[in-house]
Amino acid sequence: MQERITPARRLSGSICLPGDKSISHRYAMLAAIAQGDSTIHNYSTGADCHSTLACMAALGAEVVESGADVRIRGRGLTGLTAPRSDLDAGNSGSAIRMLSGILAAQPFTSRIAGDESLARRPMDRVMKPLGEMGASISARDGRYPPLEIRGSKLRPIDYTLPVPSAQVKTCVLFAGLYADGATTVREPVRSRDHTEIALREFGADIQTRQRVITLTGRPKLAGRELFVPSDLSSAAFFIVAALLVPGSNLVIRGVGLNPTRSTLLDVLVSMGAGISILNVEQQNGELVGEVLVKGSTVVRGGVIEKETTAALIDEIPVLAVLGAATEEGLTVRDAAELRIKETDRIATVAQNLRRMGIDVEESPDGMRIPGKQRFRAAEIDSFGDHRIAMAFSIAALVATGPCAINGAEAASVSFPEFFDVLRQVTA
Ligand code: S3P
Repeated sequence: MQERITPARRLSGSICLPGDKSISHRYAMLAAIAQGDSTIHNYSTGADCHSTLACMAALGAEVVESGADVRIRGRGLTGLTAPRSDLDAGNSGSAIRMLSGILAAQPFTSRIAGDESLARRPMDRVMKPLGEMGASISARDGRYPPLEIRGSKLRPIDYTLPVPSAQVKTCVLFAGLYADGATTVREPVRSRDHTEIALREFGADIQTRQRVITLTGRPKLAGRELFVPSDLSSAAFFIVAALLVPGSNLVIRGVGLNPTRSTLLDVLVSMGAGISILNVEQQNGELVGEVLVKGSTVVRGGVIEKETTAALIDEIPVLAVLGAATEEGLTVRDAAELRIKETDRIATVAQNLRRMGIDVEESPDGMRIPGKQRFRAAEIDSFGDHRIAMAFSIAALVATGPCAINGAEAASVSFPEFFDVLRQVTA
């Protein structure tokens, strides 16, 4: 599918966005292994989170959707049943990696696979700790999906993450739910902590001290009512759009502002962006609030590196777009993980920037984009990656003329309403 994007005069309005993808996956998995019913409001509308729902249903949980609300009748920690066919994680690294932790502890064997992009993403990062816990997992070429997971009785471990990854942390903690005793995960850099918060909400005993997380196995998880905040990683596209298009004035309501996710806002504010946060409150242990963005502020640009890179890894494609329009340009370092996302995002960002006439220098673990550049109208390719489709639709808003986004349907992996909302705020 091709979308045509014309340059925007300004962005305005007050919008609410679909539920956070990371939180939705976790709530769906935990609701399925909790005892009793859970209702999840504002569940992510993205295809990724629907892959998770389909997997949990195939494992025996009763899943009923009504609009953006999902009701899940949990089967209890030990009540899942063997799926009749291969589980399909679709495009979702979160679904396959996090669910592996649960599958590893089941008294049956399951196979989980996904699409072409997922088939190229490494799974050894979850196979290693799960193997140490006693699970038996085989993979294509030792590290790629499909995974065949023969469930077994798991032992608790004390695991230091070699790469900062919330997916791997979650996988180990979910497996730890089934182990007798305390499972500990140590993080080199703090990653998103939605799992810790959600486990606490469902009634697990979990403690975090600095970057050491300890979970007591075999808890009684109880179904409950949950609200998913709007996805800050989806809001990021509109925040950057409003900063790029002069005269914009945009309000995004109900946005998840968990401090382990909101580094993007801190970085933008430190670069001079006109962003304010209002009416912050807590919902199910997560911070939620309103984000106000005013265009026409000068964004300085700068360097993103070390733990900052890890904390805003999903927002780098759209930040790279903004970088070209900043005063000093943008340098991204320590982002080798970008090369093993849905696409090699260093390469796909650089290719599309170049198509739009933007100067960019790639390095093995990052890129340098000089500032004060102008986007030329061009034909863009999503390369089948949702965040690339959306990031370059935002670049198109400030191009010298209309742009075509090829493979625009990729946006529906996380944000099917993206182009509708874009039309609404630019009308
Ligand atoms: C996610 C963690 C991050 C992120 C992904 C979602 C999560 O991946 O990029 O989009 O929900 O835990 P890694 O765990 O690979 O860093």
